[in-house]
Amino acid sequence: MNSAAAPAGSDGVAGCRHVAIIMDGNGRWARKRLMPRAVGHKRGVEVVREVTRAARDMGLEALTLYAFSSENWKRPADEVADLMGLLRGFIRNDIDEFVANNVRLRVIGDYQHLAGDIVDLIEDALARTALNTGTQLAIALNYGSQQEIARAAALAAAEGEVTPETIEVHLDTHGMPPLDLVIRTSGEERLSNFLLWQAAYAELWFTDVLWPDFTPAHLKEAIDAFAMRERRYGGR
Ligand code: IPE
Ligand code: IPE
Ligand code: MG
Repeated sequence: MNSAAAPAGSDGVAGCRHVAIIMDGNGRWARKRLMPRAVGHKRGVEVVREVTRAARDMGLEALTLYAFSSENWKRPADEVADLMGLLRGFIRNDIDEFVANNVRLRVIGDYQHLAGDIVDLIEDALARTALNTGTQLAIALNYGSQQEIARAAALAAAEGEVTPETIEVHLDTHGMPPLDLVIRTSGEERLSNFLLWQAAYAELWFTDVLWPDFTPAHLKEAIDAFAMRERRYGGR
């Protein structure tokens, strides 16, 4: 249980099982340096790598990263292409490390509608890590929470009664631990269609740090802040 004000415990994650991050601010990071946005996205991928390693080393059970939203298709085609190129590179380069480190990769969102070669890369990576028992790393790709809830509700309705429980089993995150903490970088304080259902009782932590400047120490800071929160779930 996530008891109130648990000290950052011996497990290193203070009862925090599942962290989700809205990785925002790549564009502003690049603009501050008078560089193209693509440079910010590229640096952002490096940070994904560092933060994923840190999460694994801390023994976090699950980390969900918002990489591309269903609304990000509104961006100019060249930026979308840059992001898809980085995604290809990330899966190709990092899959061996996940396999070697017992990381189980998951993808949430409607990834089937990405380019065919990316779908193939994803499915290969999912298959290669499916039996891993360590940290679950979920990448949100073409992800929109309202769409996910609508899909889940439709599946629940097709099977019978629609209840929170029957919806829950059809969410893309089914099988992951309950969401404990949502982090958003770059100073924005909104969820932008991310894990709306799962965040019902999650703690929220916002920082002005731009994603390319985010470090494992910031992750630790967020988890330490989480440890000081009192979660009540409507009780008293
Ligand atoms: C986050 O950085 C990355 C994605 C949304 C893919 P942004 O690209 O949104 O950066 P800002 O918000 O414009 O600074
Ligand atoms: C949310 O960031 C999506 C990702 C981080 C992938 P955005 O930059 O797209 O969000 P808004 O548009 O500022 O709400
Ligand atoms: Mg943004």
